[in-house]
Amino acid sequence: MAVPLPLAGKTALVTGATSGIGLVTARELACLGARVLLVGRDAARAEQAQADIQLAAGPEAHVHIKRFDLSLIRNVQSLADELLRELNQLDILVNNAGIMPGAFTLTEEGHELSWATNHLAPYALTNLLLPLLDAAGRARVVTVSSMAHWVGEIEANREVRNSPDKYSWLTAYADSKLANILFTQELAHRLDLTGITANCLHPGMVNTGLIRADTSTVMKALWSMGRPFMITPEQGARTSVYLASAPEVGGISGRYFANCRPARSSNRAQNRTEAARLWRISAEETGIE
Ligand SMILES: NC(=O)c1ccc[n+]([C@@H]2O[C@H](COP(=O)([O-])OP(=O)(O)OC[C@H]3O[C@@H](n4cnc5c(N)ncnc54)[C@H](OP(=O)(O)O)[C@@H]3O)[C@@H](O)[C@H]2O)c1
Repeated sequence: MAVPLPLAGKTALVTGATSGIGLVTARELACLGARVLLVGRDAARAEQAQADIQLAAGPEAHVHIKRFDLSLIRNVQSLADELLRELNQLDILVNNAGIMPGAFTLTEEGHELSWATNHLAPYALTNLLLPLLDAAGRARVVTVSSMAHWVGEIEANREVRNSPDKYSWLTAYADSKLANILFTQELAHRLDLTGITANCLHPGMVNTGLIRADTSTVMKALWSMGRPFMITPEQGARTSVYLASAPEVGGISGRYFANCRPARSSNRAQNRTEAARLWRISAEETGIE
């Protein structure tokens, strides 16, 4: 008789699963037996990802596409509504989708693009999916942050992040990644004793498509110089997969990891008052408590 796969019977949702770290994370979770829902905004890339994962995980694997642009809160709400209608429970949520825009961009809803995609979307999606995570009993929320959070300073940078004249892509990106850690800390605190865990991670410097046509020229140059030293998406996805599936971290919550081990985050990322304040701001900005 075949031995059941470790994640058989579990459902995982991975955002930004059409390329890079998210694609490999979704593939590995499917190979471990999870039914995987891929969130992507581009139809062709999502279908290609689905085909790649199906090929790796075999014909019995359940791989589904959810096509949503998560930079808008109303889309996050629609995705959550759909999932709440279709699923009975959600065992694993990987908040992976991320962007590093080179220029100041405001979404239709008036949020700076990296703040909206990298922080507000995970905040809103996780909160809206809490009934499904709760129904799973011991669900895990994994959020992909970055070591770039070390230079983040959310309150002090508010003006730089939100003004076209003063905008710095690095500041905006770093602030959103600092927000990922503070969000995880506050979420873990609020979910204490529920059985749902929340952790976040730095994946390493990974050779992915994070650098796009609109990324700043400086960053493009730095990225291409750094490419030979970067790790592969397979290596970059290891900590996400570990936090989403390894039995030994099933009871750990509110931590920041790198290389599949707890890691040190900046002092600002460990500030409980900041974490609580960010939660209040995020609730105001998204309209979701
Ligand atoms: N690469 C690194 O060295 C590194 C280091 C630290 C942290 N990270 C973090 O790792 C995560 C994954 O990035 P990656 O390096 O794998 O880059 P990537 O290959 O560009 O993957 C990013 C994914 O996010 C999706 N995405 C972006 N904006 C979206 C939106 N509005 N709605 C839905 N999906 C959206 C992208 O979809 P499209 O294909 O449609 O754009 C893509 O699937 C990010 O959170 C990033 O900040 C990366």
